[in-house]
Amino acid sequence: MHSRRVGVIVSGSLVGGLEMKLDEWYSVEDIRAGKFVVIEGEKSRFFCMVTDVRLDTTNPQVLADPPDEEEDLMRQVLHGTTTYGTVCLRPLLMTDKDDAPAARANEPHLVKTIPIHFSVVCEAEEEDVNRIFGSEEYGARYFHIGRPLDMETPICIDLEGFIERSNGVFGKTGTGKTFLTRLVLAGLIHKDRAVNLIFDMHSEYGWQATQETGSGRRGFVKGLKQLFGSKVAIFTLDPESARRRGVQSDFAVKIPYNQIMVEDIAALADELNLHATAVESSYLIVNKYGRDWLSVLLQQDPKDIKDFSDQIGAHPESISALHRKLKRLEKFDFLQEKVHEDAVYKIMEYIDKGVHIVLEFGQQSSFLCYMLVANILTRRIHDLYVQKSERYLASGRPQDKPKQLIITIEEAHKFLNPMAARQTIFGTIAREMRKYFVSLLIIDQRPSSIDDEIMSQVGTRITSLLSDEKDIAAVLTGVSNASWLRSVLASLDSKQQALLMGHAVPMPVVIRTRDYDGVFYSAMGHVEGEELAQKAHANIADLFGDR
Ligand SMILES: Nc1ncnc2c1ncn2[C@@H]1O[C@H](COP(=O)(O)OP(=O)(O)O)[C@@H](O)[C@H]1O
Ligand SMILES: [Mg+2]
Repeated sequence: MHSRRVGVIVSGSLVGGLEMKLDEWYSVEDIRAGKFVVIEGEKSRFFCMVTDVRLDTTNPQVLADPPDEEEDLMRQVLHGTTTYGTVCLRPLLMTDKDDAPAARANEPHLVKTIPIHFSVVCEAEEEDVNRIFGSEEYGARYFHIGRPLDMETPICIDLEGFIERSNGVFGKTGTGKTFLTRLVLAGLIHKDRAVNLIFDMHSEYGWQATQETGSGRRGFVKGLKQLFGSKVAIFTLDPESARRRGVQSDFAVKIPYNQIMVEDIAALADELNLHATAVESSYLIVNKYGRDWLSVLLQQDPKDIKDFSDQIGAHPESISALHRKLKRLEKFDFLQEKVHEDAVYKIMEYIDKGVHIVLEFGQQSSFLCYMLVANILTRRIHDLYVQKSERYLASGRPQDKPKQLIITIEEAHKFLNPMAARQTIFGTIAREMRKYFVSLLIIDQRPSSIDDEIMSQVGTRITSLLSDEKDIAAVLTGVSNASWLRSVLASLDSKQQALLMGHAVPMPVVIRTRDYDGVFYSAMGHVEGEELAQKAHANIADLFGDR
């Protein structure tokens, strides 16, 4: 036996999981839920996760009369014989043991049986981890995202599997969602797997972001633009804030009123505190004024609302409420009567060239603004993608194939709660999978507020600590026989640990998230000291040099 032994299997079942008696030289305190171990069965090796740890005894009398604090010797005598630790294991994958010449036959497959009595349990080794999760050395589809709880071998996600569906990053505030997301996005950009459009509510992805460095102090980490230069463009809704923070943005997004549709307003009903009848009455304005409906409404003088309502055949009270509440939109500087350049075409132009876009909201980080902009832009981008996809399906020419687009949204439940999921474009995208080459990366701290059907479509779930039972149940939606995962989720550290499960990994696994630091920057090809930012700007200008 080459690796360190942990214990032996003493009982268990396929459905309920296995129990192992912990070896006496191994401390229960060293066994954590989520640890990755291997069972050497008679004919197969089983790859397992620790789900629970328990104290046991062969003699209940000892418990009635426990040794005193001073009786160290007594404790030692009892330990391992009369008293011992029991570890619950969940076998997740198995491989055949006989070194079958056909390597194929030896691929890890789903567990269909359990090991014999007294099979030895060992700590997993580097080789085991690589065999199951792949390794960056095996090819560009693998991306190192973290390490097992107590090993140094990288755990990779399979980016090909990842981009096949919409995906989610979940966890309470402060658990590392933003850092994990930035890590995954960096992987996708570095390995050129998909084009990303990131709705960056708190301006944390493009240029530098703050990092809590303990004792309340703050440091800075690099944003994607700093790491990848011309591969990433920063669009902004708040050029003023970008300038103040020293961010060179590539484009200031302006949206004309005539691009706001009633659907966009309907999606904001909660934020605007708008009654359904008020939303309904906006259709009457649309009937008469078409795309100019919102400008026309906002231009009305409050004292003319009655006449205006009569004209379009609406209830004056509804129109008055609508008018009053939509007036709030006028404070957004980026909403304008006429715009010089259409932001959606601009975004598509960049996407077509494979440039990733971070849209910063700057000071405009209210939900109202975030949802309004994300809805308007995504709806039109999706329309263009549907057209592109249909052109490609008709022609079948590889050059017509749209680039896979991943749209990242935060506070996803605002867009994907059961009500909104039926109305917003995001619900549509999540449901249609990637038929039109668009999928979502959703970030959320309250997954229980997301529609069940949408949750079950989320291909890969990266989950940090959650404490609410409802949230835990939500991230396990659609996972069969998942009760054992609850205890694993609940026992994660409050920072920088996550449970990975779904399409991008062959079995669920707990990781310590890779550090987002200087070592990571270099791995992404970043050269310290090089004036990347300025160069980046020049390069983007080159890309569009034809104008
Ligand atoms: N992978 C990581 N590398 C370095 N620091 C991290 C990492 N993950 C989390 N942290 C630390 O945890 C803090 C909170 O992470 P953050 O991603 O902002 O949490 P959330 O988005 O879930 O609220 C960060 O400021 C940082 O100090
Ligand atoms: Mg965050």
